[in-house]
Amino acid sequence: MFIGIIGSGTMGIGIAQVAATSGCEVLLYDTNSAQTEKSLLILKNTLQRLVEKQKITPEQSEEIFSKIKPCNELQDFATCDLVIEAIIESKEIKTKVFQNLEEIVSENCVIASNTSSISITSLSSELKNPERFIGIHFFNPAPLMPLVEIIPGLLTKENLADEIFSLIKSWGKTPVIAKDVPGFIVNRIARPFYGEALRIVEENLATIEQVDDAMRTLGNFKMGPFELMDLIGIDVNFSVTKTVYQDYFFDPKYKPSLLQQRMSEAKLLGRKTGKGFYDYAEGVEKPLPQKDEKLYEKIFMRIISMLINEAVEAKRLKIASDEDLELAMQKGVNYPKGLLAWGKEIGYGKISETLQNLYEEYQEERYRQSPALRTM
Ligand SMILES: NC(=O)c1ccc[n+]([C@@H]2O[C@H](COP(=O)([O-])OP(=O)(O)OC[C@H]3O[C@@H](n4cnc5c(N)ncnc54)[C@H](O)[C@@H]3O)[C@@H](O)[C@H]2O)c1
Repeated sequence: MFIGIIGSGTMGIGIAQVAATSGCEVLLYDTNSAQTEKSLLILKNTLQRLVEKQKITPEQSEEIFSKIKPCNELQDFATCDLVIEAIIESKEIKTKVFQNLEEIVSENCVIASNTSSISITSLSSELKNPERFIGIHFFNPAPLMPLVEIIPGLLTKENLADEIFSLIKSWGKTPVIAKDVPGFIVNRIARPFYGEALRIVEENLATIEQVDDAMRTLGNFKMGPFELMDLIGIDVNFSVTKTVYQDYFFDPKYKPSLLQQRMSEAKLLGRKTGKGFYDYAEGVEKPLPQKDEKLYEKIFMRIISMLINEAVEAKRLKIASDEDLELAMQKGVNYPKGLLAWGKEIGYGKISETLQNLYEEYQEERYRQSPALRTM
């Protein structure tokens, strides 16, 4: 199978590795050929490390690498069966690329975007044949993260999602099918993990260390919200929140945080700039949190209730099947449990009560409950 990948940055090269590892022939195109060279060099080193760890043989490493061919023009994509676009997150620039591509590839070629936040339907509507267009959303780093969200738009032909589902499964990934809504599954449901944590700190109810410690110790999350925002990049995380908020027509549930805006403005972006919510300079120790059982329980219940409420609402709106909703949060963002199962375990009555108390305290629509919560 011939796969074309447009954009050889972080995601493009990762997706290329995944496809080549499964035996596909991959063509890689980027307007910046220096980026392609750089990414291929990084891939070569990654494969070398896999050989050293005995995860693959030297022959396999060579074969994977030889299957990825850089090309200088989009014209070379004429024989592709599937093209996945992973360029800059701009609707205008993506649209131009798709319109060029449509003139080059055969009628049967599927065109896909790895966009995190642009509506698949809106991208497809700019094409002559929107039926062949679909979202295939990998998570970073693509070779390591199992989850792939498959997003048919309103104009995507029936069955295409199922076909892509089988293909992505054959690549060893965990595909789920999601509706074309802002944030799809993961980036929508996960919003309160960050948003509510930021709010607790903005309100001086706890320190960032305490919030992270509470979520790690009581929730078994691998990383606390602030540690995770520092890893993702505070600007990137802020931009996802802003997009989801705008695209849901300013639903107060997704209102972004001023603290996060100020951190972005100050270029305190997390690990990539050496400082974010934590200081990553050499020799600087992370401050120890002041443990407080009662406070920790409050923090945990507040954040987990918001997350479970989001999952229940996504279930009600059938954004994905129950099974896919559960898989997505575990395989896309490493949650220790599916949120629907977690709700059952804690007790939906308790979740509802926590949200009701917050609603009464703050008088804000942010804390409104999914109508399905009481029937769970
Ligand atoms: N980084 C993530 O965590 C992540 C996760 C999931 C999805 N995404 C999505 O994947 C896409 C790519 O993200 P990334 O992080 O890999 O970006 P990146 O900046 O690392 O790479 C983008 C590449 O696209 C190239 N490019 C820009 N315009 C082009 C054009 N017109 N034609 C060909 N190449 C062009 C750039 O030169 C660059 O090398 C975005 O849509 C993003 O939203 C990113």
